[in-house]
Amino acid sequence: MSNKMWGGRFASGPDAIMEEINASIDFDRHLYRQDIAASKAHADMLAKQGIIAADDAKKIAHGLDTILSEIEGGKFAFKRALEDIHMNVESRLTDMIGAPAGRLHTARSRNDQVATDFKLWVRDTIDTLDAALSLYQIALAERALEHAATVMPGFTHLQTAQPVTFGHHLLAYVEMAGRDRGRFADARKRLNESPLGSGALAGTSFDLDRDMTAAALDFDRPTANSLDAVSDRDFALETLAAASITAMHLSRFAEEIIIWTSPLTGLVKLSDKFTTGSSIMPQKRNPDAAELVRAKTGRIIGALNGLLIVMKGLPLAYAKDMQEDKEGVMDALSALSLAIAAMAGMVGDLVPDMAKMKKAAGEGYATATDLADWLVRTFNIPFREAHHITGRIVAAASAKGVPLHRLTLEEMQAVEPKITGDVFSVLSVDRSVKSRVSYGGTAPKNVKAQAKKWLKKLAKE
Ligand code: ARG
Repeated sequence: MSNKMWGGRFASGPDAIMEEINASIDFDRHLYRQDIAASKAHADMLAKQGIIAADDAKKIAHGLDTILSEIEGGKFAFKRALEDIHMNVESRLTDMIGAPAGRLHTARSRNDQVATDFKLWVRDTIDTLDAALSLYQIALAERALEHAATVMPGFTHLQTAQPVTFGHHLLAYVEMAGRDRGRFADARKRLNESPLGSGALAGTSFDLDRDMTAAALDFDRPTANSLDAVSDRDFALETLAAASITAMHLSRFAEEIIIWTSPLTGLVKLSDKFTTGSSIMPQKRNPDAAELVRAKTGRIIGALNGLLIVMKGLPLAYAKDMQEDKEGVMDALSALSLAIAAMAGMVGDLVPDMAKMKKAAGEGYATATDLADWLVRTFNIPFREAHHITGRIVAAASAKGVPLHRLTLEEMQAVEPKITGDVFSVLSVDRSVKSRVSYGGTAPKNVKAQAKKWLKKLAKE
């Protein structure tokens, strides 16, 4: 049997493999809510414009509402022979209300329909992700406030660099998540034009009110070029790019959690809630959630690459290649949503070993810069010279096998005779972080103020 939606010029049905490769219902069924909302808006508009009878529009709307509850109640039979969500819904509508259902597709193509549905789906998902990122930021800022004065080693090259506070480190991720949200918000702004009414590619001869459907679906305006509207997927790409950057940020943090929970550093512990055991090694406590966040980033970036490659060679306008846009986007955004939730969970769960952090912060001559700064401030020695003197003091401590504050004053004076006993006051890690008061620096009072600022801002959202 030929397809009842488009089979007029076909004598027979498709080969089984044709049907299988062509069908998208297994994944585009997730667009059902958006598809039904867009169809209702379209039918309403057709009636208002006198293109279909008001009575038919009413039957269509009522039928679509019933289909929505059938799908949500798990009572809808999706059929692969009907290819996609659009034809599954329309076919069921025909079964339910008969002839008027055939008027719904007036002045519409599946090309503008799918672009509209998918935009609405991506927009809804951006909103969900934004809310999840906000909760993640709150979790981070709360822990940052709690640990505004908890000293930990700061690294560059993963070598101990200067002491920082744990709160400062956590707030770095709040900033990143803030920019991630900004990127999603930008994508949402550009996405928010309605393709509905663009037809297959050229527009339509019917006198549509595209502003009406755009407004009904909360779009800012209708798209201005029908070819562009049905054939571009930059809204999906931009969202995937924002998702990839967000995931990359989460992955860096996940990597740090993996390092911190390793017995090699032991800086942080995760509770049983966020660790797993080994089936053979009874002692193991593995940070699997963090590892999976790191891994999911690969899938998310892969989806961006995949869709860019699908799109890059397509001449205008629509081509069936574009049906491949949905799986990657849906998979990537659901992976991201899970990753955000897992990170927020771990942020709430992790317990820093404050004594170990402080000890590690003091190792590797982490306050050497403080000593150089003290020489500059106290004796007006040029920084380059102070750096050199400090380097020789570090070498002396290293030769003796002790941290800087365990050198005697005499040993330091052997390098630089001007040095006085005051020097010891700048060699402690607590003093070091307290002194970093420049705007954006790690001083506990800065961290406290920043954490409070974020919490206040986030509470208002
Ligand atoms: N399932 C299709 C998609 O996702 C809908 C559009 C089909 N349009 C067409 N001309 N065959 O892209």
